[in-house]
Amino acid sequence: MPLPKAELHLHIEGTLEPELAFALAARNGVELPYADTDALREAYRFSDLQSFLNLYYGLMAVLRTERDFEDLANAYLARAAAQGVRHAEIFFDPQAHIARGVALGTVVEGLWAALGSSEENHGVSTRLIMCFLRDESADSARETLEAARPYLDRITGVGLDSAEVGHPPVKFREVYEAAAALGLRRVAHAGEEGPPQYITDSLDLLGVERIDHGLRCMEDPELVARLVRERVPLTLCPLSNVRLRAVDTLADHPLPAMLDAGLLCTVNSDDPAYFGGYVDDNFTAVRSALGLDEQRLRELARNSFLAAFLADDEERRAR
Ligand code: ADE
Ligand code: ZN
Repeated sequence: MPLPKAELHLHIEGTLEPELAFALAARNGVELPYADTDALREAYRFSDLQSFLNLYYGLMAVLRTERDFEDLANAYLARAAAQGVRHAEIFFDPQAHIARGVALGTVVEGLWAALGSSEENHGVSTRLIMCFLRDESADSARETLEAARPYLDRITGVGLDSAEVGHPPVKFREVYEAAAALGLRRVAHAGEEGPPQYITDSLDLLGVERIDHGLRCMEDPELVARLVRERVPLTLCPLSNVRLRAVDTLADHPLPAMLDAGLLCTVNSDDPAYFGGYVDDNFTAVRSALGLDEQRLRELARNSFLAAFLADDEERRAR
Protein backbone atom coordinates (compact mmCIF):
# COMPACT_ATOMS: atom_id res chain seq x y z
CA MET A 1 0.00 0.00 0.00
CA PRO A 2 1.48 3.36 -0.98
CA LEU A 3 1.83 5.89 1.85
CA PRO A 4 -1.03 8.41 2.08
CA LYS A 5 0.32 11.70 0.81
CA ALA A 6 -0.49 15.09 -0.67
CA GLU A 7 0.80 16.12 -4.07
CA LEU A 8 1.71 19.81 -4.15
CA HIS A 9 3.66 20.22 -7.38
CA LEU A 10 1.75 18.85 -10.34
CA HIS A 11 1.06 20.55 -13.66
CA ILE A 12 -2.20 19.14 -14.99
CA GLU A 13 -0.97 19.64 -18.56
CA GLY A 14 2.03 17.50 -17.60
CA THR A 15 -0.25 14.53 -16.95
CA LEU A 16 -1.18 14.24 -20.64
CA GLU A 17 -0.18 10.66 -21.45
CA PRO A 18 0.62 9.89 -25.12
CA GLU A 19 -2.43 7.61 -25.43
CA LEU A 20 -4.79 10.35 -24.25
CA ALA A 21 -3.00 12.92 -26.44
CA PHE A 22 -3.70 10.78 -29.53
CA ALA A 23 -7.30 10.11 -28.45
CA LEU A 24 -7.95 13.85 -27.99
CA ALA A 25 -6.19 14.65 -31.27
CA ALA A 26 -8.55 12.26 -33.06
CA ARG A 27 -11.61 13.64 -31.23
CA ASN A 28 -10.70 17.24 -32.10
CA GLY A 29 -9.27 16.72 -35.60
CA VAL A 30 -5.83 17.93 -34.54
CA GLU A 31 -2.86 16.58 -36.45
CA LEU A 32 0.16 15.69 -34.30
CA PRO A 33 3.69 15.70 -35.74
CA TYR A 34 4.31 12.16 -34.41
CA ALA A 35 3.38 8.89 -36.15
CA ASP A 36 2.17 7.16 -32.98
CA THR A 37 2.53 7.02 -29.21
CA ASP A 38 5.92 5.28 -29.46
CA ALA A 39 7.26 8.03 -31.72
CA LEU A 40 5.96 10.64 -29.27
CA ARG A 41 7.61 8.88 -26.32
CA GLU A 42 10.81 8.70 -28.37
CA ALA A 43 10.82 12.51 -28.45
CA TYR A 44 10.99 12.65 -24.63
CA ARG A 45 14.75 13.04 -24.52
CA PHE A 46 15.18 16.43 -22.91
CA SER A 47 18.43 18.32 -22.46
CA ASP A 48 17.06 21.02 -20.17
CA LEU A 49 13.86 22.77 -19.08
CA GLN A 50 13.43 24.69 -22.35
CA SER A 51 13.67 21.59 -24.56
CA PHE A 52 10.93 20.00 -22.46
CA LEU A 53 8.75 23.13 -22.51
CA ASN A 54 8.87 23.28 -26.33
CA LEU A 55 7.34 19.81 -26.61
CA TYR A 56 4.98 20.32 -23.67
CA TYR A 57 3.41 23.52 -25.02
CA GLY A 58 3.17 21.97 -28.51
CA LEU A 59 1.25 18.92 -27.30
CA MET A 60 -1.32 21.12 -25.54
CA ALA A 61 -2.82 21.70 -29.03
CA VAL A 62 -5.02 18.63 -28.44
CA LEU A 63 -6.75 20.22 -25.40
CA ARG A 64 -9.67 22.21 -26.79
CA THR A 65 -12.97 21.63 -24.98
CA GLU A 66 -14.23 21.49 -21.39
CA ARG A 67 -14.57 17.74 -21.79
CA ASP A 68 -10.88 17.46 -22.76
CA PHE A 69 -9.81 19.20 -19.55
CA GLU A 70 -12.27 17.12 -17.52
CA ASP A 71 -10.95 13.86 -19.03
CA LEU A 72 -7.36 14.97 -18.43
CA ALA A 73 -8.02 15.78 -14.78
CA ASN A 74 -10.01 12.61 -14.14
CA ALA A 75 -7.24 10.48 -15.64
CA TYR A 76 -4.73 12.15 -13.31
CA LEU A 77 -6.92 11.86 -10.22
CA ALA A 78 -7.51 8.14 -10.80
CA ARG A 79 -3.77 7.51 -11.13
CA ALA A 80 -2.97 9.74 -8.16
CA ALA A 81 -5.49 7.95 -5.94
CA ALA A 82 -3.90 4.60 -6.84
CA GLN A 83 -0.54 6.06 -5.72
CA GLY A 84 -1.78 7.05 -2.27
CA VAL A 85 -2.60 10.70 -3.01
CA ARG A 86 -5.36 11.97 -0.69
CA HIS A 87 -5.00 15.64 -1.55
CA ALA A 88 -3.71 17.33 -4.72
CA GLU A 89 -2.90 20.99 -5.34
CA ILE A 90 -2.96 21.23 -9.09
CA PHE A 91 -1.22 23.81 -11.31
CA PHE A 92 -2.56 24.94 -14.64
CA ASP A 93 -1.15 27.33 -17.24
CA PRO A 94 -4.00 29.61 -18.43
CA GLN A 95 -1.85 31.72 -20.75
CA ALA A 96 -0.75 28.66 -22.72
CA HIS A 97 -4.42 27.94 -23.50
CA ILE A 98 -5.67 31.49 -24.00
CA ALA A 99 -2.85 32.01 -26.54
CA ARG A 100 -4.27 29.08 -28.56
CA GLY A 101 -7.76 30.53 -28.54
CA VAL A 102 -9.10 28.38 -25.68
CA ALA A 103 -11.01 30.57 -23.22
CA LEU A 104 -10.08 30.61 -19.53
CA GLY A 105 -13.66 29.58 -18.71
CA THR A 106 -13.30 26.43 -20.83
CA VAL A 107 -10.18 25.45 -18.92
CA VAL A 108 -11.48 26.20 -15.42
CA GLU A 109 -14.97 24.75 -15.96
CA GLY A 110 -13.51 21.63 -17.55
CA LEU A 111 -11.00 21.06 -14.76
CA TRP A 112 -13.67 21.81 -12.17
CA ALA A 113 -16.01 19.19 -13.64
CA ALA A 114 -13.42 16.65 -12.43
CA LEU A 115 -12.05 18.43 -9.35
CA GLY A 116 -15.45 19.38 -7.93
CA SER A 117 -16.44 15.71 -7.59
CA SER A 118 -12.98 14.31 -6.94
CA GLU A 119 -13.55 13.58 -3.24
CA GLU A 120 -16.58 11.41 -4.09
CA ASN A 121 -15.13 9.86 -7.25
CA HIS A 122 -11.48 9.41 -6.33
CA GLY A 123 -11.16 10.07 -2.59
CA VAL A 124 -8.82 12.97 -3.37
CA SER A 125 -9.46 16.53 -2.15
CA THR A 126 -8.12 19.20 -4.49
CA ARG A 127 -7.05 22.80 -4.87
CA LEU A 128 -6.40 24.67 -8.11
CA ILE A 129 -3.37 26.95 -8.51
CA MET A 130 -3.17 29.24 -11.54
CA CYS A 131 0.39 29.74 -12.79
CA PHE A 132 1.73 32.73 -14.66
CA LEU A 133 4.23 31.98 -17.43
CA ARG A 134 7.35 33.83 -16.36
CA ASP A 135 8.65 34.12 -19.95
CA GLU A 136 5.54 36.15 -20.80
CA SER A 137 5.21 39.81 -19.79
CA ALA A 138 4.08 41.16 -16.44
CA ASP A 139 1.19 42.84 -18.30
CA SER A 140 0.05 39.47 -19.61
CA ALA A 141 0.14 38.06 -16.07
CA ARG A 142 -1.95 41.02 -14.84
CA GLU A 143 -4.49 40.50 -17.64
CA THR A 144 -4.69 36.81 -16.76
CA LEU A 145 -5.38 37.59 -13.11
CA GLU A 146 -8.08 40.05 -14.22
CA ALA A 147 -9.63 37.42 -16.53
CA ALA A 148 -9.67 34.95 -13.63
CA ARG A 149 -11.90 37.14 -11.42
CA PRO A 150 -15.13 35.27 -12.30
CA TYR A 151 -13.48 31.97 -11.29
CA LEU A 152 -11.78 32.96 -8.04
CA ASP A 153 -14.11 30.76 -5.98
CA ARG A 154 -12.39 27.82 -7.68
CA ILE A 155 -8.82 29.07 -7.58
CA THR A 156 -6.86 28.85 -4.32
CA GLY A 157 -3.63 30.45 -5.35
CA VAL A 158 -1.19 31.67 -7.96
CA GLY A 159 2.15 30.23 -9.05
CA LEU A 160 4.98 31.07 -11.43
CA ASP A 161 6.39 28.57 -13.92
CA SER A 162 7.97 28.09 -17.37
CA ALA A 163 11.50 29.19 -18.42
CA GLU A 164 13.18 30.40 -15.23
CA VAL A 165 16.60 31.80 -16.10
CA GLY A 166 16.41 35.44 -17.21
CA HIS A 167 12.89 35.87 -15.80
CA PRO A 168 13.46 36.90 -12.18
CA PRO A 169 10.71 37.14 -9.58
CA VAL A 170 10.87 40.96 -9.42
CA LYS A 171 9.08 41.11 -12.79
CA PHE A 172 5.94 39.76 -11.10
CA ARG A 173 5.99 41.76 -7.87
CA GLU A 174 2.87 43.85 -8.67
CA VAL A 175 0.76 40.96 -9.93
CA TYR A 176 1.60 38.94 -6.80
CA GLU A 177 0.58 41.94 -4.67
CA ALA A 178 -2.71 42.07 -6.56
CA ALA A 179 -3.20 38.32 -6.09
CA ALA A 180 -2.59 38.64 -2.34
CA ALA A 181 -5.11 41.48 -2.18
CA LEU A 182 -7.66 39.10 -3.75
CA GLY A 183 -7.01 36.58 -0.98
CA LEU A 184 -5.03 34.14 -3.14
CA ARG A 185 -2.24 31.97 -1.73
CA ARG A 186 1.17 32.35 -3.41
CA VAL A 187 3.83 29.90 -4.56
CA ALA A 188 6.54 30.13 -7.23
CA HIS A 189 9.00 27.89 -9.05
CA ALA A 190 12.49 29.01 -8.05
CA GLY A 191 15.94 27.47 -7.94
CA GLU A 192 15.16 24.72 -10.46
CA GLU A 193 17.57 26.12 -13.06
CA GLY A 194 17.70 29.66 -11.69
CA PRO A 195 20.09 30.93 -8.99
CA PRO A 196 19.49 30.88 -5.20
CA GLN A 197 18.73 34.63 -5.38
CA TYR A 198 15.47 33.79 -7.20
CA ILE A 199 14.42 31.79 -4.13
CA THR A 200 15.22 34.69 -1.81
CA ASP A 201 13.41 37.14 -4.10
CA SER A 202 10.35 34.87 -4.35
CA LEU A 203 10.09 35.03 -0.56
CA ASP A 204 10.87 38.74 -0.17
CA LEU A 205 9.30 40.27 -3.28
CA LEU A 206 6.45 37.87 -4.07
CA GLY A 207 5.58 36.77 -0.52
CA VAL A 208 5.36 33.10 -1.46
CA GLU A 209 4.46 30.46 1.15
CA ARG A 210 6.17 27.56 -0.61
CA ILE A 211 9.01 27.25 -3.11
CA ASP A 212 8.49 24.90 -6.04
CA HIS A 213 11.73 22.95 -6.57
CA GLY A 214 14.19 25.15 -4.64
CA LEU A 215 16.96 22.67 -5.43
CA ARG A 216 19.68 25.30 -5.82
CA CYS A 217 19.19 26.66 -2.29
CA MET A 218 21.92 24.17 -1.38
CA GLU A 219 24.48 26.53 -2.97
CA ASP A 220 23.76 29.17 -0.31
CA PRO A 221 24.12 28.05 3.33
CA GLU A 222 22.55 31.27 4.67
CA LEU A 223 19.50 30.72 2.50
CA VAL A 224 19.25 27.11 3.72
CA ALA A 225 19.38 28.37 7.32
CA ARG A 226 16.60 30.84 6.57
CA LEU A 227 14.39 28.24 4.86
CA VAL A 228 14.85 25.93 7.86
CA ARG A 229 14.20 28.72 10.37
CA GLU A 230 11.07 29.95 8.57
CA ARG A 231 9.85 26.41 7.83
CA VAL A 232 9.39 27.20 4.13
CA PRO A 233 8.23 24.05 2.32
CA LEU A 234 10.06 22.98 -0.83
CA THR A 235 8.16 20.93 -3.41
CA LEU A 236 10.90 18.75 -4.88
CA CYS A 237 10.45 16.63 -8.01
CA PRO A 238 13.31 14.10 -8.20
CA LEU A 239 12.45 12.28 -11.46
CA SER A 240 11.83 15.65 -13.15
CA ASN A 241 15.25 16.86 -12.00
CA VAL A 242 16.90 13.84 -13.63
CA ARG A 243 14.97 14.14 -16.92
CA LEU A 244 15.59 17.91 -17.19
CA ARG A 245 19.24 17.43 -16.17
CA ALA A 246 19.11 19.55 -13.02
CA VAL A 247 21.02 16.60 -11.51
CA ASP A 248 23.14 14.04 -13.38
CA THR A 249 21.57 10.94 -11.85
CA LEU A 250 19.05 10.25 -9.13
CA ALA A 251 21.91 9.05 -6.91
CA ASP A 252 23.28 12.62 -7.09
CA HIS A 253 20.05 14.21 -5.91
CA PRO A 254 20.55 16.42 -2.82
CA LEU A 255 17.30 15.27 -1.13
CA PRO A 256 19.07 13.35 1.69
CA ALA A 257 21.34 16.34 2.40
CA MET A 258 18.33 18.65 2.31
CA LEU A 259 16.48 16.51 4.85
CA ASP A 260 19.61 16.30 7.01
CA ALA A 261 19.83 20.10 6.90
CA GLY A 262 16.32 20.28 8.37
CA LEU A 263 14.55 21.58 5.26
CA LEU A 264 10.81 20.93 5.00
CA CYS A 265 11.01 18.83 1.82
CA THR A 266 8.15 17.22 -0.07
CA VAL A 267 8.33 14.83 -3.03
CA ASN A 268 6.11 15.40 -6.07
CA SER A 269 5.85 14.44 -9.73
CA ASP A 270 5.82 17.79 -11.65
CA ASP A 271 4.90 16.47 -15.15
CA PRO A 272 4.52 12.73 -14.61
CA ALA A 273 3.50 11.79 -18.16
CA TYR A 274 6.81 13.18 -19.39
CA PHE A 275 9.23 12.33 -16.61
CA GLY A 276 8.67 8.63 -16.07
CA GLY A 277 6.47 8.45 -13.02
CA TYR A 278 3.69 9.64 -10.76
CA VAL A 279 4.25 10.65 -7.15
CA ASP A 280 4.64 7.22 -5.59
CA ASP A 281 7.01 6.28 -8.42
CA ASN A 282 9.10 9.24 -7.21
CA PHE A 283 8.95 7.91 -3.63
CA THR A 284 9.99 4.44 -4.79
CA ALA A 285 12.80 5.84 -6.95
CA VAL A 286 14.32 7.96 -4.17
CA ARG A 287 14.00 5.10 -1.73
CA SER A 288 16.15 2.82 -3.86
CA ALA A 289 18.54 5.35 -5.45
CA LEU A 290 19.14 7.39 -2.30
CA GLY A 291 18.67 4.69 0.31
CA LEU A 292 15.99 6.59 2.23
CA ASP A 293 14.61 4.48 5.05
CA GLU A 294 10.97 4.05 6.06
CA GLN A 295 11.19 6.86 8.62
CA ARG A 296 12.44 9.34 6.00
CA LEU A 297 9.67 8.35 3.58
CA ARG A 298 7.08 8.85 6.32
CA GLU A 299 8.60 12.26 7.08
CA LEU A 300 8.23 13.22 3.41
CA ALA A 301 4.59 12.08 3.37
CA ARG A 302 3.86 13.94 6.63
CA ASN A 303 5.55 17.08 5.29
CA SER A 304 3.27 17.02 2.26
CA PHE A 305 0.20 17.47 4.51
CA LEU A 306 1.94 20.09 6.67
CA ALA A 307 2.81 22.10 3.55
CA ALA A 308 -0.64 21.82 1.93
CA PHE A 309 -3.18 24.62 1.79
CA LEU A 310 -5.61 22.54 3.82
CA ALA A 311 -7.78 23.67 6.67
CA ASP A 312 -6.94 21.77 9.87
CA ASP A 313 -10.04 19.58 9.82
CA GLU A 314 -9.46 18.59 6.20
CA GLU A 315 -5.85 17.79 7.02
CA ARG A 316 -6.93 15.40 9.75
CA ARG A 317 -9.50 13.75 7.48
CA ALA A 318 -6.95 13.24 4.71
CA ARG A 319 -4.70 11.25 7.09
N1 ADE B 1 6.02 23.88 -16.43
C1 ADE B 1 5.77 22.58 -16.36
N2 ADE B 1 6.75 21.94 -15.69
C2 ADE B 1 7.64 22.89 -15.32
C3 ADE B 1 8.86 22.88 -14.61
N3 ADE B 1 9.40 21.78 -14.12
N4 ADE B 1 9.49 24.05 -14.43
C4 ADE B 1 8.99 25.19 -14.91
N5 ADE B 1 7.85 25.25 -15.59
C5 ADE B 1 7.18 24.11 -15.80
ZN1 ZN C 1 6.85 22.45 -12.03
